Amino acid sequence: MSTTPDAAAPCQFHAVLRTADVEPGQVRHVALAGREVAVFNIDGEFFATSDRCTHMRARLSDGYVQAGVIECPLHFGKFDIRTGRALSPPCKIDLAVYPVRIDGDSLSVGVS
Ligand code: FES
Repeated sequence: MSTTPDAAAPCQFHAVLRTADVEPGQVRHVALAGREVAVFNIDGEFFATSDRCTHMRARLSDGYVQAGVIECPLHFGKFDIRTGRALSPPCKIDLAVYPVRIDGDSLSVGVS
């Protein structure tokens, strides 16, 4: 099941980090418009997802990033960082994903 934001909903971008704040292969937690968001750097490309696991809401930014996948620190379920897709049990519900914009060294995340 996809939880990707509705493409028709207006999206507002918020500057949340500098690109240098997230090293390749790393993840950072940010609080944004009442949401908990995980910002990832995958080989110099940035992605943002919900920071709460869809299984039992563990904070994914405390998990382990490898090869474009985030592993939950609580029960080790996995998600594709680029798409939010749940990849392994016990996770069955996809993560919400958010668009990312880079302007110079400023990194913005869009939420509707
Ligand atoms: Fe993430 Fe259970 S809370 S796999």
